[in-house]
Amino acid sequence: MNILRRGRLAVVPGEDIMRFTSSMEADKRIFYADVEVDKAHVVMLTEQSIIKEVECSSILRGLDKIQKDGISALDTSYEDVHIALEARLIEMVGEDIGGRMHSGRSRNDEVATCIRLTLRVELLNLMGEVANLIATLIKIAVKHHETIMPGYTHTQHAQPTTLAHNLLAHANAFIRDISRIKAAYVCTNQNPLGAAAFASTGFSINRERTTELLGFDSTIENSMDAVSTRDFMIESMSCFSNIMTNLSRMAEELILWSTSEFGFIELNDRYSSTSSIMPQKKNPDIAELMRAKTGTLNGSLISVLTICKGLPYSYNRDLQEATPHLWRSVDTVRASVRMADGMIGTMGIKKENMKKATNIGFMTATELADVLVRNADIPFRTAHHIVGSIAKKGTTPTLAILDELSSRIIHEKLSDRGLSGKSIRDALDPMNNVKKRNIKGGPAPRETKRQLTFANKKLSKIRKDIDIFNRQRDKASDKLEKICKEHL
Ligand code: ARG
Repeated sequence: MNILRRGRLAVVPGEDIMRFTSSMEADKRIFYADVEVDKAHVVMLTEQSIIKEVECSSILRGLDKIQKDGISALDTSYEDVHIALEARLIEMVGEDIGGRMHSGRSRNDEVATCIRLTLRVELLNLMGEVANLIATLIKIAVKHHETIMPGYTHTQHAQPTTLAHNLLAHANAFIRDISRIKAAYVCTNQNPLGAAAFASTGFSINRERTTELLGFDSTIENSMDAVSTRDFMIESMSCFSNIMTNLSRMAEELILWSTSEFGFIELNDRYSSTSSIMPQKKNPDIAELMRAKTGTLNGSLISVLTICKGLPYSYNRDLQEATPHLWRSVDTVRASVRMADGMIGTMGIKKENMKKATNIGFMTATELADVLVRNADIPFRTAHHIVGSIAKKGTTPTLAILDELSSRIIHEKLSDRGLSGKSIRDALDPMNNVKKRNIKGGPAPRETKRQLTFANKKLSKIRKDIDIFNRQRDKASDKLEKICKEHL
């Protein structure tokens, strides 16, 4: 007899209704967290003299066995893991003992606690994976401070830059992503347990104790807030969307760069596919899927926002529908980060092609205009007019041509205002352009070396933070295990 329905409900729902209602499939993700939550709750109930020591040891022994047997040993005709687990416990130790485990709590605070416990591990692993990707970008950038390549705006040749400058741009975006995950971690690592259905409980439970036993940073005080909110999920999923957007833009560059038109890189065969009909094809499928999965992931974020937006406080079953989106998203973002890391780390870089491409599209035009400003002391807008006119003509700029144009535009020769042929030739050298841009954040090798050192420092700090979070968590779960043993 179903331990949940036997009192209030007379009819057993059919299989079709159960399939519609059940969260068992997604609950696989929270099974171990659920056992941990049960253990912490039972220890606290015992310490508060709400259940007896003998009952505690019998329940903890049962929970150990349930943990060992795994979720597949549970009766899947129950609507979720929480009640299936309780039913199994009661089957093992009898209702007189097992039936006491759920005192002073509800599945509403239980499920929120389980999701938070599971998600915080995922967030820490994700942080580690993003850190690895940053390390790979830095490792490649270090070899390419002088690897000149075209920089683009509007996907048109714009100004020369270096590969190091480009890779560090992406690395910085991922460093910011990590700060966002850290903030989501802080919001996630709070304890809703003890809120019960929403109105807390008349049992004298100790919420601070389960917070400590489960290694949470703090307790979510308002019990209605604790069971109602899924903002920690939304915040995490927003982070995922941001990461995926950053990955997708990088993937887009890798896709473009590996075309015959660009020919800047060659992806490793491992990260490529071929055609079933065109034998010559080498396709960047992994990068393309990364770009596409960004769309799927954004869809999940919108799903959760939309599920939550109309819900009155406190718990509504709608919330169950949000959770699978979270697990799918975190799996996707973690896999995508690992793919990007492998793809970047193994790609071949065709420096010569990058360099050749810097001679196309008059990318030194800005520097030439700047030289006119600096050496002939004319306003930038006038220089822009003169150099733009040369670009329109499609001729190579020489002092004679510039003089001719300036005579027409400002009725003065630039050579009379101090412009020399050498300064023009210098302005037209792409590498000189790059070296000149040595102010903070620029692509000059000296400057990208400084940026790289700074990124490395940030990376070490990130790794330290991840270590601290992991150690806090491990310490709490070791302690909980130890305390449980003392009760056996
Ligand atoms: N499976 C449910 C969920 O994921 C657990 C909480 C059920 N609570 C309830 N009152 N029906 O949200």
